[in-house]
Amino acid sequence: WGPPTWALLIGYLLGSIPFGIILTRAAGAGDLRSIGSGNIGATNVLRTGRKGLAAATLILDMLKGVAAVLVVRHWLPGEEALAAAAAFIGHCYPVWLKFRGGKGVATLMGVVVALHWPLGLVYAVVWLGLLATIRISAVAGMAAAVSAPLTAAVMGRFDLVLLLIALALIVIWKHGSNIERLLAGTEPRIGKKRD
Ligand code: G3P
Repeated sequence: WGPPTWALLIGYLLGSIPFGIILTRAAGAGDLRSIGSGNIGATNVLRTGRKGLAAATLILDMLKGVAAVLVVRHWLPGEEALAAAAAFIGHCYPVWLKFRGGKGVATLMGVVVALHWPLGLVYAVVWLGLLATIRISAVAGMAAAVSAPLTAAVMGRFDLVLLLIALALIVIWKHGSNIERLLAGTEPRIGKKRD
């Protein structure tokens, strides 16, 4: 067991904590997987009508990505990109939920901020800007994910470009059902009921 293995393990275990499920269950708001899109992320927690819970899910899903990178940067310097990838994969494919996890947008924000904060700033501006204007969470999330490798290239962080392309592709892959609804014109906007 060398540093890369530890980095992967720490990242994965942190990333795989399903805060959305834990918080909604603890608050007695039901099982997130049988609500709205069935996703375990903050957008779907919002569909329970609990804004505070949704905000907490968003922040904690982000912070677990930040924590994975910072912990590994401190204890296993040089392995933080691996930890970032593992935290993201942990969120999207958690062993605790039979590998059926979230769509990665908040956790990607967390790892991007921790890897190189100016990238995180652009990510947040794209994400929140689109959320506030078009109010379709999936579009805002996918656009923010795609912005990350582009911004990394523009900022000369070529060491991060391939990793961020891979993670953005997974974000898009995980939004398959959202893309189908978008094409059918049935994807709900934030603040409106799904049906
Ligand atoms: O981050 C997830 C978001 O982009 C979409 O969530 O519940 O609308 O599928 P949801």
